[in-house]
Amino acid sequence: MLPDPTLASRLARHGQDHLLRFWNDLDADARARLLSEIDRIDFDQVDRLVATLVQGSASTVPEPDQVRPIDVFRLPRTDAERVEHRHAADVGAKMLAAGEVGVVVVAGGSGTRLGFDGPKGTYPIGPVSAASLFQIHAEKIVALGRRHGKPLPLYVMTSPENHEATVRFFDDHQRFGLSSVRFFVQGQLPAVDRQSGRLLLAGKGRIALSPDGHGGTLDALAAPGPGGSPSCLDEMRTLGIRTLFYFQVDNPLVKIADPAFLGLHRAADAEMSFKVVEKLTPEEKVGVVVRVDGRPTVIEYSDLFPKLAELAERRVQEGHLELWAGSIAIHLLERSFIERVVGNHSLPFHRAVKKVGHVDESGNPVEPSTPNAVKFERFIFDALPLAERWTLVETDRSVEFEPLKEATGADSPATVRQRMSDNFADWLERAGAYVSRRPDGSVPFGIEISPLFALDDAELKDKIEPGRVIEGPVYLGPDELRIAR
Ligand code: UTP
Repeated sequence: MLPDPTLASRLARHGQDHLLRFWNDLDADARARLLSEIDRIDFDQVDRLVATLVQGSASTVPEPDQVRPIDVFRLPRTDAERVEHRHAADVGAKMLAAGEVGVVVVAGGSGTRLGFDGPKGTYPIGPVSAASLFQIHAEKIVALGRRHGKPLPLYVMTSPENHEATVRFFDDHQRFGLSSVRFFVQGQLPAVDRQSGRLLLAGKGRIALSPDGHGGTLDALAAPGPGGSPSCLDEMRTLGIRTLFYFQVDNPLVKIADPAFLGLHRAADAEMSFKVVEKLTPEEKVGVVVRVDGRPTVIEYSDLFPKLAELAERRVQEGHLELWAGSIAIHLLERSFIERVVGNHSLPFHRAVKKVGHVDESGNPVEPSTPNAVKFERFIFDALPLAERWTLVETDRSVEFEPLKEATGADSPATVRQRMSDNFADWLERAGAYVSRRPDGSVPFGIEISPLFALDDAELKDKIEPGRVIEGPVYLGPDELRIAR
């Protein structure tokens, strides 16, 4: 017996009647779950997405003559620029002391490339202590709150797949000493077969769903909380939070709520701001911030080629790329801007072609060896063209960007731990210590400094005896100085 015949005919109208193919094999619970999954899908929206992003060839890549470079606050090189940055940092420190800043970390991704069993934020990345990404981020937030005399609230975006495990991890670690942390769940969308556009079944009674991209953050912040409680945005308004620092869970180097970044954002009265790094090669896998018809816009790296290849490869003086401003997913957003965007616009969807496990027509599981599916995702950086005012601030990639994406090779645990150790060695040397290095300058052992011991190199200077020699692994933990060997 099929459920309500109108449901079957509605699904048939959308070419998705196969979702009920195994109905007779399902028990009552599985049937109820499948119906509730179907109920949450907007099939008209899926039809539009399939027409444009699976079957259509409508390109959203601009024409080369629409694209121009964009102005960026470069890293300070002159005394005057250094003074400007110091003033900005003073303004940012006042914003922190006034409790106007909240922190959002997005941790809803599936982490497929890393292939780790658990939410990516729980990955033990600390080169000596094996502290998790979440612990490192949380300790920075606790330390910042102490420094500025006002705790910062943390908002953690999860997905339905990893929500419970994420909350449990924070609870198991006494929320890492954070005074305010709230978890909010992003939306999901079905994955479709890349040839036919039909939804994939993850099991006989389960639709293959995946998170709707980090652009889903804005809607998720605005959605009511559990049991109709206030949304995150409503809560922020009550707390007096004006500005949100946004970052992604996989980059342990991020300078959370960097006061100079905050101050430059505020001085420009910006609605959204980006940290950018100089792209060294056009092929580097970061999106590039440009102007398109005058509006600030991010072009994804995959969209640069082939249409914009000539532009992407063009070099100006001293060999620098003309379009050099690579976005590293570190942003500031005004709360009022998010409220406006959520009320009036929806961010565009992009297609991501991925491998998605599913069951075939006979109900047998299939693990594809090549990408078989299209997932639909929104990206946070698509909010930028909607901002009336913005700032872009250059940062040094080696000190602020080393994301954990892959299991091996570039952007893997090995490269992230090495970069962390090398950076902490730089801090120690600036504090007057001697650190053994390989001929290429890298450190041959782990070095790690908890943010609760020192949040930055300036703070470390007060805590280390000059002349100290470091020849083996070191972990400077929250309360003590300890040589880990
Ligand atoms: P990535 O796009 O690198 O994806 O996300 P990922 O899920 O970490 O890894 P892959 O692509 O499956 O291997 C960048 C950041 O955005 C978050 C991720 O958790 C990560 O912090 N994100 C991504 C979300 O929060 N939700 C999403 O739907 C996608």
